Amino acid sequence: MGGATGEDLAGRTVVYGITGGIAAYKAPMVVRGLKALGVDVHTVMTEAATHFVTPLTLQTVSGRAVCTELFSGLSPDAHEVEHIALADRADLLLIAPATADFMAKMALGLADDLLSCVALATKAPILVCPSMNVNMYNHPATRKNIEVLKERGVHFLEPASGELACGWEGAGRLPEPPRIVAEAKRHLYQKDLAGISMVITCGPTAEDIDPVRFITNRSSGKMGAALVEAACVRGANVKVVSGPVATEYAPWAEVVMVRSAEAMLDAVTEGLKGTDVLIMAAAVADYTPASYRSSKIKKKDRLTAVELKSTADILSTIKPLKRDAFFVGFAAETENLSDSARQKLVSKGLDMIVANRVGEAGSGFASDTNSGLILVGPGVLDTFEHLEKEALAHKILDYIRERV
Ligand code: PMT
Repeated sequence: MGGATGEDLAGRTVVYGITGGIAAYKAPMVVRGLKALGVDVHTVMTEAATHFVTPLTLQTVSGRAVCTELFSGLSPDAHEVEHIALADRADLLLIAPATADFMAKMALGLADDLLSCVALATKAPILVCPSMNVNMYNHPATRKNIEVLKERGVHFLEPASGELACGWEGAGRLPEPPRIVAEAKRHLYQKDLAGISMVITCGPTAEDIDPVRFITNRSSGKMGAALVEAACVRGANVKVVSGPVATEYAPWAEVVMVRSAEAMLDAVTEGLKGTDVLIMAAAVADYTPASYRSSKIKKKDRLTAVELKSTADILSTIKPLKRDAFFVGFAAETENLSDSARQKLVSKGLDMIVANRVGEAGSGFASDTNSGLILVGPGVLDTFEHLEKEALAHKILDYIRERV
């Protein structure tokens, strides 16, 4: 079975197994997160799991009958062998929480209930999210079972550390539902960008005037973060160079946080070594204070102007280091999108430029959608209108994929 490309996960199926641990209370939120991706969720619960969360809850949030028994006859098609039908239908088998007992069963190849039968029969990737008491998790038997399963190609999302429901402290907490959903999402995508390394710059830069004040812009990092996540789920090796933002980046990327345009230039120059693709989605300051005042400028100083100097243009500065790497820039414009973008494409030595409209609702800075056009030469390659940044990110990566 192939994975999804682009942003399209509709029509994909996750068989979601829940085993009997207290963290099963998070399962309905996992189902909701998966459904929000557009995937079809078939839930399978072990008998023990039903003690922690009811099948009715899971049925309601998944919109499907929940399978709990090997011989329930619940399969929509009367002649289907239920565990095989579920195993075959899965594009991913997700098990969260996975108890020590269930992983031991998997490691031994036991198949004495519906979920263990599905785990043994499926050809789909399996993602296991263990959750238990720290001593059970660290027990040599559990460690060995995890090792055996990893050797067989089973994927794991490690538990978080902290206070556990049993009162102990340590590793064993089930990660929060959004983290589980993100990991599941990654396993549903085709890895069409595997082997490609990318540097993606994101967010604004901040140019300090004194220890209190600085000049910055409205970039939230959302466009960059969408590109980072899309590139990671499609298998690219991603390094992020980000200005100060509250936005979180996909957990699989290496993130270098910087503050000023000068620091971003240094980090990009360093990150560029051996990189196949550079995407400059950051809104880099064009000006910085001519000098930095190391003590706070007082109100009584009656400051009326701040002298500015130009920052180095990062793309123009690194042009000589380009080799055969593919460079993508963004152009933030309020008017004449294609003319301004075309001129930046040439002057900055870019292979592709994405021009987006700023200064209007639903596009550009801080919004979840974007409008504009994509150029690779004098002609417009594509236009987009109020497109979700996630979808735009996949579109941009599709065009890059065709060219690298
Ligand atoms: O972060 P969000 O809130 O989601 O907003 C996204 C965005 C609007 C910031 C993003 O989509 C975007 O347009 N980023 C580029 C903004 C910008 O700096 O555009 P520009 O037209 O001024 O610069 C053109 C290109 O040169 C950009 O790729 C920029 O990163 C680069 N540049 C700019 C200045 C500079 N000193 N060095 C550069 O390399």
